[in-house]
Amino acid sequence: MRFVDKYQPFLYPLIARTIFREVSKRIETVLDVGSGPGYLSVEMAARPPIKVQAIDINPTMLALAAKRADQRGFRSQIVFDTADVHQLPYKSNTFDLVVSYSCLHHWHDIPTALSECVRVLRPGGTLYIIDSYPDPQAVSFFKRMIPEPELARFAVQALEESLEPETIRAFVKNLETQNFEVADFVFDEEDMLEIIEHIQDSPFEEAPPNTISWKLVATK
Ligand SMILES: C[S@@+](CC[C@H](N)C(=O)[O-])C[C@H]1O[C@@H](n2cnc3c(N)ncnc32)[C@H](O)[C@@H]1O
Repeated sequence: MRFVDKYQPFLYPLIARTIFREVSKRIETVLDVGSGPGYLSVEMAARPPIKVQAIDINPTMLALAAKRADQRGFRSQIVFDTADVHQLPYKSNTFDLVVSYSCLHHWHDIPTALSECVRVLRPGGTLYIIDSYPDPQAVSFFKRMIPEPELARFAVQALEESLEPETIRAFVKNLETQNFEVADFVFDEEDMLEIIEHIQDSPFEEAPPNTISWKLVATK
């Protein structure tokens, strides 16, 4: 079984659950920045009345995302736009939640991209960004865990390009937010047990050495 096929059914429902558990406000509109093939967009659209706007700079990714949304029966709840996070084509104060998973390490001007994300959030809305720690132990973990060379190369490159949380904190200080935290992104144990029971096949062959991801959570 391919690495993504094994981990995707467990990882993205857990990410969505974790976000909604922590952002305990009513959410109707979500912007998924750098949606890629739409794993997280679809998990979010599976929670009515949520409508998801999924953006990616790469239209091929959005075509895959649209196919996934069709297959899961949530196509009408997601709108796909080819767009760059540095220049979002949306009005200010639009979304209840702006999420982004494993994308920030691609952004060439992080302060501009972050202020765009905050601009399109409605007042009181939440920015929730997750990316990896540039941790050498995590790099060797992924090299061991991912059998497909190209996928392993992408995962390792993502970790190597990742930023330290201190750098993110420095960027966020200048944003127009009421409060923010940059911390480890960890799953709730109950959520993990429930998801694993649901997919009936634990994907854990080996636990990661450390927490692999950080989260930036900010309220506008
Ligand atoms: C590592 S993938 C993660 C995709 C998705 N979030 C997931 O978890 O499967 C990063 C995605 O960010 C997109 N991306 C990179 N730079 C971007 C930018 N400036 N604006 C929007 N999307 C971008 C890429 O095209 C790619 O699909």
